[in-house]
Amino acid sequence: MSNKLFNVEDYRLLAEKKLPKMIFDYLDGGADDEKGLSHNREVFNRWRFTPHRLIDVSKRDITQKIFGKKWDAPFAIAPTGLNGALWPKGDLILAKAAAKANIPFMLSTASNMSIEDVARQSDGEKWFQLYVVHQELASQMVKRALDSGYTTLVITVDVGVNGNRERDLRNKFGLPIKYSPAMMLDGCTHPGWSLRFLLGGMPQLANFVTAETSSLEMQAAIMSRQMDASFDQQSLRRLRDIWPHRLLVKGITRVEDAENSIKSGADGVILSNHGGRQLEYNLAPIETLQSVASKIDKPVLIDSGFRRGSDIVKALCLGADMVLLGRATLYGLAAKGQQGVDDVITLLKQDVDRTLAQIGCPSVKNLSTDFITKD
Ligand code: FNR
Repeated sequence: MSNKLFNVEDYRLLAEKKLPKMIFDYLDGGADDEKGLSHNREVFNRWRFTPHRLIDVSKRDITQKIFGKKWDAPFAIAPTGLNGALWPKGDLILAKAAAKANIPFMLSTASNMSIEDVARQSDGEKWFQLYVVHQELASQMVKRALDSGYTTLVITVDVGVNGNRERDLRNKFGLPIKYSPAMMLDGCTHPGWSLRFLLGGMPQLANFVTAETSSLEMQAAIMSRQMDASFDQQSLRRLRDIWPHRLLVKGITRVEDAENSIKSGADGVILSNHGGRQLEYNLAPIETLQSVASKIDKPVLIDSGFRRGSDIVKALCLGADMVLLGRATLYGLAAKGQQGVDDVITLLKQDVDRTLAQIGCPSVKNLSTDFITKD
């Protein structure tokens, strides 16, 4: 690991240096005034640890079992689109890093490598995240994920309409990336990224690249996250009927939405506000975690704002089964490619392990509200 990069924020700052502004803003930005983005971080301050002392923590266990499988850490890589704009073959790099670290990887519908290519070129269990742009297209994607051996379908439900990302609007960010004079200048001052980008080619939304002309419209729709705004519990049940394996609903922040999703056939929920990129004043998922976890008897996963091992441990104390990392691993990817992703994963594993020792809990399995208190 690097001797200069000690935490996720260090990788974020390096990513900012390495990426053209337009690309960094896409990665880093949030909706509207970005109050949701900062809230997702600040909210962790409300919980303090209440450490137990005189406990033997000489041996510690950060492995976590979920859906009958044992993973080497209680966190996973969240689905994110356009990873190829950060580093060529970004999707594959993340998938391989996850397999190496034995943590789940989720491929986004808006990936730059196809469902099939990622499955063929990487080991490890893969989960597929579905954006429902169009019901028929969704059924096709589900079939492709099934045929390619993905074990879990993650349906994202907080994108009925597009979040207002003003950084992206100001930068005129979109695919294909446009060679404006500002972009060219930005490219010249980030030669490493530009060279990789020129050699790797313009990232495409690989799952939509087909011979059909309609795919261009679909690419445009997904870029502006114009999803099927009519998607409801009934639509969810229809997808449930065609997907025979595990199904998770991502983007929930209310107890009854979690309960109804389970009633519609979901095997678990992912509490998320999309990392502050959709509805600015959405509450942070950790604020609702305890109520959801106490009401449903299926796994509860969570994301949005997790940057430290202590954040992850707090969520596990409040009833989460697993935490998803969005920007944390992407900052690693943008800063140093494969090495950066490996480093961020290692750093967070160590961070979780150290936190366990410090709060007097030898295993993530023993975490509970007994270890924390709220201000
Ligand atoms: C995302 N997110 C996301 N979610 C999803 O379901 N499908 C997607 O394609 C994307 N794309 C995407 C791109 C980028 C650049 C970011 C930062 C996020 C949301 C993601 O899965 C996750 O919910 C958040 O990233 C979690 O918040 P943090 O960890 O980034 O704070």
